[in-house]
Order: sequence, then C-alpha cells, then structure tokens
Amino acid sequence: MALITIQDFDFTRAASQPALHLGQWYCRQLERGHILFFPHIPFELSEEDRAFLLTQQQAGTGYHKNIAYRPHQDRITGLVKRSREEEERLRALMRTYSRHVTRFMAVLLPPYASRWRLDYASFRPQEERGRPLRLRSRNDLLHVDAFPTRPTGGGRILRVFTNIHPTRPRLWVTSETCDVLIERLAGTPGLPLPSPWRRSVWSCLRHGLAAAGRRAGLPLVRRSPYDAFMLRLHHYLKEHEEYQTSCPKQVWAFPPRSTWIVFTDMVTHAVLSGQFALEQTFIVPHEVLVLPEKSPLRVLERLVGASLTAME
Ligand SMILES: [Fe+2]
Repeated sequence: MALITIQDFDFTRAASQPALHLGQWYCRQLERGHILFFPHIPFELSEEDRAFLLTQQQAGTGYHKNIAYRPHQDRITGLVKRSREEEERLRALMRTYSRHVTRFMAVLLPPYASRWRLDYASFRPQEERGRPLRLRSRNDLLHVDAFPTRPTGGGRILRVFTNIHPTRPRLWVTSETCDVLIERLAGTPGLPLPSPWRRSVWSCLRHGLAAAGRRAGLPLVRRSPYDAFMLRLHHYLKEHEEYQTSCPKQVWAFPPRSTWIVFTDMVTHAVLSGQFALEQTFIVPHEVLVLPEKSPLRVLERLVGASLTAME
C-alpha cells in the first residue's frame, strides 16, 4: 500500500479540461488500496469556517461517534445542545463543505461521479487517542469499514478526510488490503464464507417476518450476504487480538490541513490519534469500478461461486 501525493492540484484547470485517463488512473490506484494524499486542502474551506469548527463539541453520550451531516435531509446529528443560531450555522457550514468536497471529487474522479451515492459527511471534534468506546466502535483497532445500519449491497465505501487541527497531525496505521485478507481468512472457523441467498420455505418465512417487523417500526436492517460478511469481518478483526498485534503495519502522519482519499472497505486502517477532522463518504456502485475483479465482492464471489448481493 502506498501514499500517492498529488501536489498543486489546480481545481479550476482540472474542471475546465477534464482528463478522463488521469481520473481512471486515480481510480485504479484507489481500488488497488493506495491512498491519494493532498498536502493542502484541495477544495474551498474558509478560515472563518475552520476557526468556527475548532470551537465545536460533540454530544458526550457515546451513542453518536461523530457529528454527522445527512446531505439528502440537510440534517445534523450528534451535536451538543447549542443555541438555535449556532446549530444553524454548523448545518450551513457542513452543507457547504459537503457540496465543495463533492464538486472537487467529481473533477478528480470522473469515472465514479455520475453514479456514486452521496452518503453522510462527518465532523470529528474528539481526540482519538484514548477514546472510551465499545470495542466494536473503537477507531484505534485495525478494521475495514462496514456500515451496520446502511448496508451498501456491494457498493464501495470511498471516504475523503481532512485534518483541520491547527498544529497536530492525524495518526493512522494501515495494514493489508481486504482482498488479501479475504483470500486468507474467509472460510476459516472464525470467519465462515457467506452463503448465497436461496429461496426456501425457511428463507421466505424469515423474509415475511422481517418485512412485518419493519412495517411495525422495528429497526431491522436488510443485508445481502456480502454486507453481512463485511460486517462480520469488521468485528472479527477488531476482536482478534493476535491479528491486531502481529499483522504488518504502516504508520502515516497526516499533517494539519492535509486531505486524503481512501476506500475504507479495502484498506485495513486504524486511527491512533488526532482531533478535528472533516470527512465525506461516497458509495461507489460496483458497475463503475475500473478494477472490479479486485473488489472484496468479486473476491468473495469467486470463493463462494455465486452472487452475494441478492437479498431476501
Ligand atoms: Fe474506519
């Protein structure tokens, strides 16, 4: 895994002269499990907004890991109770951030831009070192991302991070890529291979019960066999002490005002320390990947010999 540094990215020039071949090359590097790194913030973020973010705090309940912004609903969650004015300002700021970073990403990665689904953005004001989180929520343990409440159905999790801390770097550790992990670990006793969904009396009955539960308002999530496996892999890695200590590691210090882009369902990662980061997530559909054969979904499907995205 490598860090690919992009110096002096000229957004205006790139927007007026789109270079598809360069965009494809960036996508290829990301899908191989490399990180695209920008030493300076490559999209618009005013000093005034950055200073305001540094004054913000998060609700201390432990329920919300970050302050999240949902672009499609224009809604903020996880915020400490503040005045209506302040809450409105933060919402407007996150709305602007989300739009600017999306415009930047669309110019950088044209092969994905027409089809991706804009997911949540987040602001992470808490110091990561020593955060008192439940084991499965801890950021300092190596893992690949899988969303428990928002399964992707085979779509890929692409994330953009920006360190807005005035002086301190954000420290990451990375390890192997997901395709390598799946080849080695899937099918072992602690991590059984997923079973493709098949129509049977039992599966139809379960489907009917789950659908009735959802209609009644129960928080039951529909997951494909792929999504269920990725969530198990996320838990397996965090719970596996031997893996955490013995796997190969690379440490990265992302300096203040730098930005990095990574498929977090591909690159095993952990955050050791750092405070004040912005992040936007995109779900990239499988159909627009430039190296689909390397995706976790295809690697798993090759091992199982069947489609894993069909759902009950
Ligand atoms: Fe993560």
